[in-house]
Amino acid sequence: MASPKVNMTLQDYMACRQKAVDAALDRVVPPESTNPSTIHRAMRYSLFAGGKRIRPLLAIAAAETILDKDVPDETFAVSLELIHTYSLIHDDLPALDNDDLRRGRPTCHKVFGEAMAILAGDSLLTLAFEVLAKLQNVSPTQIVRLIGELATASGTVGGMIGGQVNDIEGEGKPPTTELLESIHRAKTGALLRASVRMGAMYGGANEQQLAALTAFGEHVGLAFQIVDDILDVEQPSEKLGKTAGKDAAQHKITFPAVYGLARSKEMAEQERVAAHAALAGFGENASLLRQLADLIVQRSS
Ligand code: IPE
Ligand code: IPE
Ligand code: MG
Ligand code: MG
Ligand code: MG
Repeated sequence: MASPKVNMTLQDYMACRQKAVDAALDRVVPPESTNPSTIHRAMRYSLFAGGKRIRPLLAIAAAETILDKDVPDETFAVSLELIHTYSLIHDDLPALDNDDLRRGRPTCHKVFGEAMAILAGDSLLTLAFEVLAKLQNVSPTQIVRLIGELATASGTVGGMIGGQVNDIEGEGKPPTTELLESIHRAKTGALLRASVRMGAMYGGANEQQLAALTAFGEHVGLAFQIVDDILDVEQPSEKLGKTAGKDAAQHKITFPAVYGLARSKEMAEQERVAAHAALAGFGENASLLRQLADLIVQRSS
């Protein structure tokens, strides 16, 4: 039996799921009025600024590929958006990328000050694990697996923080292909890979299914950051909702810096094709994952 979502256009699917993800986020983040109000305002300011919600969407689509029906509850997937938004708030801080614009708005520290932005990031990070620990109708074994997956992907060894460290320390260094790929696989790829894997785990994937979806997640993860680097060169800030041209200005190690734009685009396309190939065993049930991979490579913001 095909999932009802298979017959929706990607646009309809995204709009429907983004709404569900936003509703779940709204449920798990304390209201602005809750004391201390400043931190809840700062968390909500960055969370509800209009992100694409790619990570939860990948997690939900992966779960639905395995379950062959809609997920009963999106809450597990919002843990990924909480970690992602924390990483963006901290990435924008003056000590890191020093950015003024994010998701089309002044960055968190520009509005709430650095102390509150650091704490807003910290609290989103903590909340992500609280959300997973308190999941309803999920077995304790599965919860522990989800927590472990998200923690490793966010961590220092091959995870998001490790990649951010290499990214910052790489500024101004000769951009080697080895350093480039390890930065990208870690700072962005790890969380995208974990999104797909957490969806697969939530859906109860067997080892073979998990291995195939892991390969898919690795390919879309690398493609995602190659495209992020290309967009930084090619798109204006208004389109991106963040400051364009920052990578070159800060001498970042990026795909365009190492390979040039034309080759970078070919490489993103190769990753898209490889991502599709990883889904060969899933048939129609993986059609949304295929479309999300296409969107990740063909997006313009
Ligand atoms: C931007 O991520 C930062 C990276 C990890 C490259 P997204 O492009 O997913 O940003 P939002 O969530 O849509 O704002
Ligand atoms: C950020 O990479 C990755 C994380 C936030 C972990 P970038 O620094 O390239 O992201 P943008 O371009 O500022 O969104
Ligand atoms: Mg950065
Ligand atoms: Mg940045
Ligand atoms: Mg970037």
